[in-house]
Amino acid sequence: MPGRRVYLETFGCQMNELDSELVAGQLASLGYQFTPRVAEADVVLYNTCSVREQAEQKVWSRLGELRESKSDKPEMVVGVLGCMAERDGTDLMDRMPVVDVMCGPAELDKLPLLIDNAVRTRQSLVTDDPNAATKSVKSAALQGSASRRSGTLAAAGDSLEYLDLSRSVSPIDPAGSLNKSAYVRITRGCNKFCTYCVVPFTRGAEIHRPPAHIIDEVKRLADQGVTEITLLGQTVNHYRFEHDSALVSNGITQPQKGQAFKGGHRRDPLAGSNVTTFADLLYQLHENAPSVQRLRFVTSYPRDFGDDVLEVMRDCPRLCRYLHVPAQTGSDRMLKKMNRGYTVSEYNEFIDRARHYLHQPEIGRPLMISGDIIVGFPTETNEDFDKTVELLERTRYKSCFIFKYSPRPGTVAYDKIPDDVPNAVKRERNNALLAVQSRISDEISREQVGNEFDIMIEGPSQHAIKASGLSTKKANNGVQLTIGGKSADEPDAVSVAAVLERTEAETVQFSGRTDGDQIVMFDAPTAKAADLAGQIRRVRITEGAGLSLFGELV
Ligand code: SAH
Ligand code: SF4
Ligand code: F3S
Repeated sequence: MPGRRVYLETFGCQMNELDSELVAGQLASLGYQFTPRVAEADVVLYNTCSVREQAEQKVWSRLGELRESKSDKPEMVVGVLGCMAERDGTDLMDRMPVVDVMCGPAELDKLPLLIDNAVRTRQSLVTDDPNAATKSVKSAALQGSASRRSGTLAAAGDSLEYLDLSRSVSPIDPAGSLNKSAYVRITRGCNKFCTYCVVPFTRGAEIHRPPAHIIDEVKRLADQGVTEITLLGQTVNHYRFEHDSALVSNGITQPQKGQAFKGGHRRDPLAGSNVTTFADLLYQLHENAPSVQRLRFVTSYPRDFGDDVLEVMRDCPRLCRYLHVPAQTGSDRMLKKMNRGYTVSEYNEFIDRARHYLHQPEIGRPLMISGDIIVGFPTETNEDFDKTVELLERTRYKSCFIFKYSPRPGTVAYDKIPDDVPNAVKRERNNALLAVQSRISDEISREQVGNEFDIMIEGPSQHAIKASGLSTKKANNGVQLTIGGKSADEPDAVSVAAVLERTEAETVQFSGRTDGDQIVMFDAPTAKAADLAGQIRRVRITEGAGLSLFGELV
């Protein structure tokens, strides 16, 4: 609907960030415009997360605030998208009639139609009904119980596949912004059913995208100047695509059968025949998109990670030495209750194996590992918790997200295991673990002093943006991003030119990342900084503190 203005705010993980980008691209191609201010919007969309209760509460409070805007502007359409929409279902619209549209993550291809319907219906409602502001027009697309029925899987995959394929490269990206980095989905959904987790319910069953589609998307992004790609999947290393017949032609390089990636921990007997394994996919992406300087992937599952993948990572220079591989806990008893399917010693074995293949500080390529931990899972004792501390000390993550267990309705843990660890104990363990991790992160940063790294330059640091008087609030031409797990030093849509224009000093602080995902700050001459963003440059580290390194260009 041309001319209508959309406010889109995103919560949750990288999957949601990518979904928002695709949705925004689709709406922009239909003539919608974007605004960073709710007050100016005709359509307000929240792309939501359900993983912890706190994530949902943020959205509830946003919706509460909207009630007032809507009474001023009853034709305004409000949509809740993503995991919370799928988990809460249409009950949410009864509870919050300010909401007109609900769309689950597996139905986003239908969103333009839902919005279009809602806009029209609201308009006639406003004309007919003086109380229109308090009424929802209820336009919804949710997978509901269909999400895990195999008969609907192929169809759901196909229609959603269009959304990823239709990706118009960042129509929402204002000229001169720093978007050299892109996410590409390789797997949707999750089949693991960890007992605490809503994702298998909100995102549905695991579906692997055809390798030809992924390679094509990466090549197109590369052609548009994207130099850094992060592949996304909930258990990304489980990627495996079975071909019906010998396909994948269209100029895509195949690894030599029987030669590449032999390894002791290979588990896929069919690899190299009619199956594209995760190792095959990484290799093919590396070979087919040489202008992509950095290729990484999240999130790795600590099981089923073959030597074949580690060998490809070792041998392909543009594959990053970075793994996000959450352990969740250091206690075997807790792992079992969480249904994670591995033991602490298996986790440790994997970490050692990954370091054996990939840790090469002598060539400026140390392996950096990050993780996630849940504290206060039901029945967790002090002894269990001590084992988690031990795991942190042993693994030495460069960074680790630590979460307090949040019981989620519909999950096995919610139904079967009472949430018996008091909040005060969760908080205490959370703080204790944060202290351990920040000491380790600090040590790892200090260990880098004197080393040289190739860093990919992202743009002026947060500090430089602030010093220039520009707002550091993330805003991408109207698409608001509120994302956990991103560095505060990562500039978003603030253009480099705008920062440089406002910088009077002779040097300006820039930030970049090592291929192990460590943040590096350095000073650049203001007069020569205009083209730095997106470049790979070598820096020598002079200082390390907390999560940041400081260095100088060499
Ligand atoms: N697929 C990824 C995780 C996706 S969810 C994996 O298996 O590692 C991101 C993180 O949120 C999880 O790693 C977990 O640490 C945390 N998380 C998920 N559900 C949670 C819950 N109910 N309470 C607290 N933290 C949770
Ligand atoms: Fe959730 Fe477990 Fe799937 Fe990760 S692997 S998304 S924690 S169910
Ligand atoms: Fe949240 Fe859904 Fe991602 S629950 S973490 S937005 S997959």
